[in-house]
Amino acid sequence: MSADSILLQPTSFGAIPVANRVVMAPLTRCRAGAGNVPTDLMVEYYRQRASVGLIISEASQIMPEGQGYPSTPGIHSDEQIAGWRKITDAVHQAGGKMVLQLWHVGRVSHSEFQPNQALPVAPSAMAIPGEGYTPSGAKKPYETPRALETAEIPGIVAAYVQGAKNAMAAGFDGVEIHGANGYLLDQFLRDGSNKRTDQYGGSLENRARLLMEVVDAVTAAVGAERTGLRISPLQPANGMSDSNPKATFSYVVEQVNAYPLAYLHIAGMGVDQPGAAGPAFDLNSLRPLWSGKLMVNYGYDQSSAEKVVTEGHADAVAFGKPMIANPDLVARIEQDAPWNVPDSSTFYGGGEHGYTDYPVLYTHSHSAT
Ligand SMILES: Cc1cc2nc3c(=O)[nH]c(=O)nc-3n(C[C@H](O)[C@H](O)[C@H](O)COP(=O)(O)O)c2cc1C
Repeated sequence: MSADSILLQPTSFGAIPVANRVVMAPLTRCRAGAGNVPTDLMVEYYRQRASVGLIISEASQIMPEGQGYPSTPGIHSDEQIAGWRKITDAVHQAGGKMVLQLWHVGRVSHSEFQPNQALPVAPSAMAIPGEGYTPSGAKKPYETPRALETAEIPGIVAAYVQGAKNAMAAGFDGVEIHGANGYLLDQFLRDGSNKRTDQYGGSLENRARLLMEVVDAVTAAVGAERTGLRISPLQPANGMSDSNPKATFSYVVEQVNAYPLAYLHIAGMGVDQPGAAGPAFDLNSLRPLWSGKLMVNYGYDQSSAEKVVTEGHADAVAFGKPMIANPDLVARIEQDAPWNVPDSSTFYGGGEHGYTDYPVLYTHSHSAT
């Protein structure tokens, strides 16, 4: 029996007390409604998963320019805030906690998503190789983005702050700054995508400046103890690389360590493709640089998750694909029950199928009608 699993022990992420160390990783599902407003089906999806200690929402654009996939929810309009409020109410009613992931995709977009069909923005005018999504769901070659003017950067920081305030207005317990996976903040951080010559490019300090300005401003707005940060130092997707990921991300972790963040979230994508995003290094080497709560993610099952927490490399584990297929993952850990296998054909877009219809071990009976 795993009722005594270390994953089931309570902890806290800053000001957010959590019932266990099982976290739902942020998962884009492309099922928002008109106006990129969260739907009632999304309420049901998140409610089903509320027994995890913490749910991190799917990435949510902080401004229209920050969108790069069809039907991803936003956190910039009143209707979106109202839609998210139904979700946070449902999660809280079920005893869960939830933070919103603040997203700007930068160059991982297409002009068809952009206001006035403008080009997507990025640190530098460098296109991602290959094809990306358009609003219809069809793929087209990535365009060469427009490099942001230095004078535009304060507006980007302000949009992160407004997104964070909107998330708090929507009832979230906090926010996660999306610094991972090749989106805007990561594009500035890594030198493969940042060729700027102003104070936001060049040196490590300069490449990390936008991220640090966002961390500083968001924590000032909603509290460091309600702000998490996600990074993915070795993730090669979206055309990402760095000449020295170990130096870049050691610097980032040292800088953010000055803030009492709710947590740092390190995603391990790329660890199994040595060299793909720059020279490989051991992500555990970042652990001593961070004095707060650490969450890890990527490819964990029950035993590897228990091991990483037991060995002190992490305080909690975020599960992505397992949470798509196992709304009751916590009960399955408790009972050593097998895990459903996710169906990747229903990851992005569609309705209930592959979203809210995965089988659970048993059904709870609710007294409320
Ligand atoms: C369908 C899907 C959507 C995802 N969406 C996001 C997202 O919105 N934000 C993010 O930071 N990562 C996203 N990821 C990455 C996951 O959070 C996670 O890092 C990845 O699935 C690896 O964890 P796992 O092995 O437990 O699945 C997504 C992954 C998948 C499969």
